[in-house]
This record gives sequence, structure tokens and C-alpha cells, in this order.
Amino acid sequence: MNGLPLLPERIETARLVLRRWTLADAEDLLAYAADPEWSRFLPVPEPYERRHADEAVARWVLEDWSTRPVWAMEIAGRASGGINLRIDHQHRKGELGYALARRHWGNGYMTEAVRAVIDAAFAALPALARVQAGANARNRASIRVMERLGMTHEGTIPHAPRGTDLESREAGVIYAVLREEWEQSR
Ligand SMILES: CC(C)(COP(=O)(O)OP(=O)(O)OC[C@H]1O[C@@H](n2cnc3c(N)ncnc32)[C@H](O)[C@@H]1OP(=O)(O)O)[C@@H](O)C(=O)NCCC(=O)NCCS
Repeated sequence: MNGLPLLPERIETARLVLRRWTLADAEDLLAYAADPEWSRFLPVPEPYERRHADEAVARWVLEDWSTRPVWAMEIAGRASGGINLRIDHQHRKGELGYALARRHWGNGYMTEAVRAVIDAAFAALPALARVQAGANARNRASIRVMERLGMTHEGTIPHAPRGTDLESREAGVIYAVLREEWEQSR
């Protein structure tokens, strides 16, 4: 225990349950992460194999919840995606990461889930001043999620790292919302 405030381990929205990952989720994760369309803009191994899913859930189970909460998104009882928030308490900011199984895309699920996580973050962390997220500039779906949440495009990084290949760089965008903006929009 480091005395830092904690976000809830379980968050419920109208259609979703966000909860901690368990080792038993590796199979559900593999079922959607082995899809190259899903990982197109993500820094994950390809081909994505069972050991990668096992390693990922083990890492998420062990993450320090005070600085890196990471939720499984449960839809119809199956782990169908994930959301994490890297919290930099010293600089009062959090950075989101998110991904959802392809079969569930386009239903507004990620917007709904991320909204609940940002709500929870500002509520649980009184000092938190901003929440940001980054995406590959060609990742329209991710950019739409940030726009739908009312986040502001703060800038473009011309040579952001792309995927797992450190030699490969591409334009990336940064979006953010400040606490005052979030509270006004709610
Ligand atoms: C990004 C992602 C999480 C969005 O999840 P989702 O639940 O489908 O998101 P939502 O339904 O809440 O919103 C998606 C928006 O993008 C739009 N969209 C979806 N696919 C799109 C595409 N291929 N091109 C352009 N827009 C697209 C949807 O129409 C919707 O916008 P709208 O409401 O204006 O119509 C999902 O596509 C995903 O997991 N992608 C792979 C992983 C990833 O890229 N994660 C983000 C890394 S930064």
C-alpha cells in the first residue's frame, strides 16, 4: 500500500461490466487478439499466440492498481476488450489505452466504457487535472471515440512509434480533456 487513492476495480455501465482481469480470461483474449485487423495499430506481437495472451493477462493481474488500473470489458459474460489508465500522480495526469474485440465494434461500447472510466478517475483522484489518449493518425475509429467523448485534439506527433517495430514511425495524435471541461460537459 502506497497510500495513493484507488479507482474502483469494478465499474458498471448501462451495457457493460468493467472488472479486473483474471488468468482465466486468456482464452477470451486470444479469441479476439489473434485477429490482425484488431492489432493493426497496437504494439502487440503478430502472430498473437496463446503464450502472448497468457503473458498479457498475467501482467495485467499483477499491475499496481494505484498507477495502472487495467479493466477487462465484459460483454455477455466474456472478456471482450480492455481499458487501462496510466496514472502519473506527480504530474496529475492519466493516459488511456483501450481495445475491443472486432465483433463488437461500432455499437458505441468503447465510448460508453471510456466515459465511465474518466468519470471514475476524476471522482476517485481529486488531484487529477487531465486525461489524455493517443492514437495513430490513421486510426479513425479511435479518434472518433475521443471526439465523441468531447476530448480536444492537442497536437500531432509527426514520428510517433508504430507497433512493436521501433524502427517504424508514423504520425500520431494526442487528445485530452481537462477536469473543468469534463465537469462542464456532464
Ligand atoms: C477503437 C475502438 C476501441 C473503437 O471501439 P468501438 O466500440 O467500435 O467505438 P464506438 O462504437 O464507441 O465509436 C466508434 C466510432 O468510430 C467509427 N468507426 C468505427 N470503425 C471505423 C472505421 N474503420 N473508420 C472510420 N470510423 C470508424 C464509428 O462509426 C463510431 O463513430 P460514430 O459514432 O461517429 O459513427 C475499436 O475500433 C478497437 O478496438 N480497435 C482496435 C484497437 C485500437 O485501435 N485501439 C485504440 C488504440 S489508440
